[in-house]
Amino acid sequence: MADKWILVTGGSRGIGKEIALECSRRGYDVVLTYNSGKEEAENARQSIVSQGRKCEVFQMDAADRQSYRRFITKYLSSGIRADGIVNNAGIYRGETLADATDEIWDEVIAVNLTTPFRIIRDLRSNVNEGGSIVNISSVYGIRSDPWGYAYQASKSGLIHLTRALAKEFAPKIRVNCVAPGFIRTDMNSDGWTDEKFKSHVIRNTPLKRWGEAEDIAPVVCFLLSGDSRFITGATISVDGGIGL
Ligand SMILES: NC(=O)c1ccc[n+]([C@@H]2O[C@H](COP(=O)([O-])OP(=O)(O)OC[C@H]3O[C@@H](n4cnc5c(N)ncnc54)[C@H](OP(=O)(O)O)[C@@H]3O)[C@@H](O)[C@H]2O)c1
Repeated sequence: MADKWILVTGGSRGIGKEIALECSRRGYDVVLTYNSGKEEAENARQSIVSQGRKCEVFQMDAADRQSYRRFITKYLSSGIRADGIVNNAGIYRGETLADATDEIWDEVIAVNLTTPFRIIRDLRSNVNEGGSIVNISSVYGIRSDPWGYAYQASKSGLIHLTRALAKEFAPKIRVNCVAPGFIRTDMNSDGWTDEKFKSHVIRNTPLKRWGEAEDIAPVVCFLLSGDSRFITGATISVDGGIGL
């Protein structure tokens, strides 16, 4: 695995941090990005380095085109070639139609859909042949509810973008998606700290619990690895069955 690098966006916390740590446990070196949590990113970097792997950290606000351009320029000048990219950074807004402003729509689409597209477009020649790209979608890219419209559209868009790019890059690079269900992270702490909503999710999840970041990371690492060499354009649900 020497010098095999994986780029994980939003690798400073939650699911992305666990993906970054699991990659390092499996022998990859890791580039991670964060937006505002510099200290958390540094903690993640230290955990990876303490496992004997290399780690580089870049700041990038996926909602801001200038910030994105600065990140890409710095990343490319680092000379690091990637064997895998995990488009994980994301935000959730639970807007109803009545409070669905243009600002919410633009921000969510920029972070969850436009930036993953730009990253793949701009780094495609930086990914080694045989490499693998994994996009983190959501059960809400597949099923729907009458709120969080921008989020659902962004995650659904990511699934279809994955299919189109899988065709574009085959056979050199594979592109797949993971669609998590309800996972206990900061993103939905309002949900799993609210007894009523917490039990509602458990009741509706055939596997009868909330997911953890540790449930997602091994699946992402499987898609990054040669064990998934005949899989491209797929979306794997890791949701305890709630999307069925
Ligand atoms: N948790 C769930 O139940 C769940 C379910 C389905 C799908 N997902 C998806 O899984 C992914 C990770 O979610 P999570 O639950 O781990 O979320 P999280 O705990 O809120 O972490 C989000 C990560 O994304 C980064 N980020 C946030 N806004 C950003 C921006 N504007 N620009 C760049 N990076 C930004 C954060 O960095 P900073 O800390 O620096 O802001 C952080 O590293 C997301 O794509 C999410 O949609 C989550």
